[in-house]
Amino acid sequence: MILVFLGPPGSGKGTQAKLLAEKLRVSHIALGDMLREEVRAGTVVGKRAKEFMDAGHLVPDELTIEMTRKRISEKDCQTGFIIDGFPRSTAQAEAFERILAEKDLGLDKVVYFHIPEEEVVKRLSERRSCKNCGTVYHLTNRPPKVPGKCDLCGGELYLRHDDEEKVIRTRFEVYEKQTRPLVERYKKQGKLVELDATGSIDEVFQELLKVTAFALVP
Ligand code: AP5
Repeated sequence: MILVFLGPPGSGKGTQAKLLAEKLRVSHIALGDMLREEVRAGTVVGKRAKEFMDAGHLVPDELTIEMTRKRISEKDCQTGFIIDGFPRSTAQAEAFERILAEKDLGLDKVVYFHIPEEEVVKRLSERRSCKNCGTVYHLTNRPPKVPGKCDLCGGELYLRHDDEEKVIRTRFEVYEKQTRPLVERYKKQGKLVELDATGSIDEVFQELLKVTAFALVP
């Protein structure tokens, strides 16, 4: 079972991918988290990626495609996975199709998260992420039990640099130009399922369970 989660920044892809991956007991691949880990570790990839991420632009395809290829080759992905944050461009979508074909794997569905830009700005400016384990909170919708501290590991919560309003607007523009065209691609392939991502986390999850019900059938 292979699912791609596609949608604008802040549409809730990461939150929902984590919930569904736990329910289906499959791996969750999050390109943004993998890139932030490279930056944190100060690797060559991380050093190259940082300036693009801070500015809200896409990191060069050759980096993200190679990272994805490696991650999908790991053992835990052989029975299926949910990937969010990849592909984000036509070149990445083509590469993804080649990688899956090489491994004799097939993409089941692409879940497209619908949400207006203003809602995204509200969500992201109140998002806080744990510096230590990456768990995501929202000051109003999903607050931590102790302000500023992660419920799971006690780590410090911070506002991502790219969650400042100016950068959020750039990310949205980049999304419209480079990622949104993939909606048509997957529609033509008959793989696209659409989701209203404006409800509460629980409401969106219930809708997600409906559109991915095929994956829950034993
Ligand atoms: P990445 O981290 O993937 O950013 P993104 O796609 O912009 O997505 P976000 O993580 O911002 O949002 P999300 O949709 O996962 O929402 P979340 O669940 O957190 O990528 C960051 C950067 O890395 C990119 O800009 C780029 O530079 C680079 N990059 C990554 N992949 C790349 C690629 N393939 N190619 C090139 N570059 C790449 O939710 C957001 C907030 O809202 C949270 O606070 C959450 O608690 C809250 N929330 C979630 N759902 C709801 C709800 N239903 N109601 C109310 N609040 C909610």
